[in-house]
Amino acid sequence: MDLSLIQKVPLFEGLSSEALERLLQATNRKAYPKDATIVEENEVGDTLYMILSGKVKVTNIGPDGKEVILSVLGDGEFFGEMSLLDKEPRSANVVSMEKTEMMLLRRKEFMNLLENNGEILSKLLAVLSSRLRHANAQIRSLALLDVLGRIARLLLDTARKEGRRLLDGSVVFRRPTHQEIASMVGTSRETVSRMIGDLSRDGYIKISGKDIIIKEKMEEAFPSS
Ligand code: CMP
Repeated sequence: MDLSLIQKVPLFEGLSSEALERLLQATNRKAYPKDATIVEENEVGDTLYMILSGKVKVTNIGPDGKEVILSVLGDGEFFGEMSLLDKEPRSANVVSMEKTEMMLLRRKEFMNLLENNGEILSKLLAVLSSRLRHANAQIRSLALLDVLGRIARLLLDTARKEGRRLLDGSVVFRRPTHQEIASMVGTSRETVSRMIGDLSRDGYIKISGKDIIIKEKMEEAFPSS
């Protein structure tokens, strides 16, 4: 593994080249195909994973086998820190959504890094705070919004995070499957298909091949609470 790859991980930005070299010795690189279970809920874990390229979903499985998607993580993001920090079993499954390349770091080296680099520690806390904010927003939307509102907010939030703005003010991004949307907002795939149909018919969104286009009037109709 070379230095330029490690430098691309935001958590490690600002590390001295000496510290980076040391880190390089302590990490492994591993590639996973699509649909591989990288981390399993309730297992003991002692590895931190950093995504060099690709995309993973963080999931819990309900008693009826229904999948709940807690989050989707991509390039430069990390997971697996919770078990390293609190020594509890893994809190969720992490499954690759496409071919994903990862950098792995063991607990001992991770702890060592945190103890010796205040900057990494504050970056880690900032990411954990932002995940808590996101979880709060999810709780709020489950408590306050109906299914249509939850789907609309999910599309608007994804547009903000991943979208590309077009000349007419609308935003385009690669659309998640109806099943993925269902697992993110806690409803069935059939309901998602019906609601996507309604939003499309009413001119809030447009499906274009593998993309979805979110029109400007959608934000006005479904403002964030
Ligand atoms: P850990 O519990 O070790 O293993 C599963 C990982 O999924 C967990 O660490 C976090 O890195 C990640 N994870 C769990 N819940 C969330 C969440 N709500 N948002 C983002 N990532 C999460």
